[in-house]
Amino acid sequence: MQGWRLAQGASFLYGLLPMGIVDGRGRCINYARISVTDRCNYRCVYCMPEEGVKSRAHADIMRYEDILWLSRILVSLGIRHIRFTGGEPLVRRGMADFLVSFREEFPGLDISMTTNASLLPSFAGTIERARLSGMNISLDTLDSDKFAHMTRLGDISDVMSGIASAAERGIPNIKTNTVVMRGFNEHDLPDIVKFSWSHGLIPRMIEFMPMRGNLWGRETFVPSAEIFDLLKPMGDWELEGNAEKKTACGPAKYYRNAHNGLKVGVIEAISNHFCSECNRLRITAAGNMRACLFNNAETPLLPAIRDMDEAAAREAILTGIALKPRKWNDAADGVSHMSDIGG
Ligand code: 5AD
Ligand code: SF4
Repeated sequence: MQGWRLAQGASFLYGLLPMGIVDGRGRCINYARISVTDRCNYRCVYCMPEEGVKSRAHADIMRYEDILWLSRILVSLGIRHIRFTGGEPLVRRGMADFLVSFREEFPGLDISMTTNASLLPSFAGTIERARLSGMNISLDTLDSDKFAHMTRLGDISDVMSGIASAAERGIPNIKTNTVVMRGFNEHDLPDIVKFSWSHGLIPRMIEFMPMRGNLWGRETFVPSAEIFDLLKPMGDWELEGNAEKKTACGPAKYYRNAHNGLKVGVIEAISNHFCSECNRLRITAAGNMRACLFNNAETPLLPAIRDMDEAAAREAILTGIALKPRKWNDAADGVSHMSDIGG
């Protein structure tokens, strides 16, 4: 209840508090991740079971106009950064054009997307016009056989072309995301880091998180300390000060290579929870808000969106934020598929 009251107060104070909604635990919620589809052209071993997951019917997911309407409310509540995720956002028809119209509607907002890059060769030209603030691209290995194995359906050459088209179009702040899994790609990290640097991208190594049916276990999990050890042959590293973290509000810790000054991010999703600094909320493609990745509590927003009932939508969002737990739930076995939530 405490959380709810403070969240209500914060929303009442919006306009005086440009930093956004402050939840009952003092966390400033200014970042929303919106999944635009639960479908994907890949089946990454860390994300989905081999057989895939049953997709929702089109009628059950938010239309683009629903997303626009909801985003207006989110921005009015103090959200300053919206990231589009999936599944794979670009498998949804019209996504690139939607990004352009979204930018027209929100000229000053940070807008970004997480993608597997395979469809970027077709869409980067349109996406360029959306003037994204950044893009995160999954890149788990450079080896084509391993890539096919890890994504089950992917061809690394599509991703390479996708990365090239994004870079050619001048999309800024491109990061690569590598989910580190023992027995799959743990020895590929230095190559991925060098590749990303040589293309002007920022590499980030992510601890494998347990989601339903995704191979997580003691055998596959590589803790951040070991990820860091795997990078040691690349030279000495210095942990970046908190300055970066404070501005980016993100969960990555950045290390700078002492020889060339370039950096690598390590996301300690498991070893070192960043719950106390979590600034984000998530909205699934079906329009359900999740205040925490590892907590299945969802607040449905779609009824309010479809009724275009602003008061109800605000109330639902603030109720959802009040459900944001202090700390994630370790018993994460039953947590939904990442493709449904959007990472
Ligand atoms: N653990 C860690 N990261 C994951 N992602 C998806 N599933 C997992 C998982 N189980 C991340 C990947 C991908 C993004 C969509 O979500 O980095 O780039
Ligand atoms: Fe698709 Fe991304 Fe999940 Fe891989 S991690 S299956 S690319 S949604």
